[in-house]
Amino acid sequence: MDLVYNLIVALHLLGMAAVVGGWIAVRSGRTVIAPIVWGARAQIVTGLALVGVASAINDPEHTVNHTKIAVKLVIALVVVAAAEMGAARGRKGKDTGSLLDVAGGAAVVNVLVAAVW
Ligand code: HEM
Repeated sequence: MDLVYNLIVALHLLGMAAVVGGWIAVRSGRTVIAPIVWGARAQIVTGLALVGVASAINDPEHTVNHTKIAVKLVIALVVVAAAEMGAARGRKGKDTGSLLDVAGGAAVVNVLVAAVW
């Protein structure tokens, strides 16, 4: 089960890389590219999967801090909402405004919550 858990952690980190890396890469173009949207969706799916596996295996190495998870989930919803809205505006040829920065910035906040809390 540890292998499964660690593989989901790897997917979770790759999702984070897609959002934060995508944000940095397209910062000057001001467009929300598809990998950012998919990465934001993946973070919610893999994050919830991590919580599910951690709860199921009852291993002291993988305890679930529910307050931290709730905060991360709310921030992840901000990331995905901003990414989806920014991409939709981009498809219509409209300016994405600050939605790209909201998605990227909130993802960085979630990295800090994950690493520092
Ligand atoms: C944009 C959204 C997110 C980002 C950028 C993000 C980022 C990260 C990072 C960088 C880690 C690794 C921390 C470490 O190794 O110490 C992590 C771990 C984790 N995240 Fe997220 N996360 C996001 C969303 C979520 C969501 C929505 C959930 C659950 C609902 C979640 C649950 C977890 C869990 C349980 C771990 C612990 C993995 C372990 O055992 O080391 N994350 N997250």
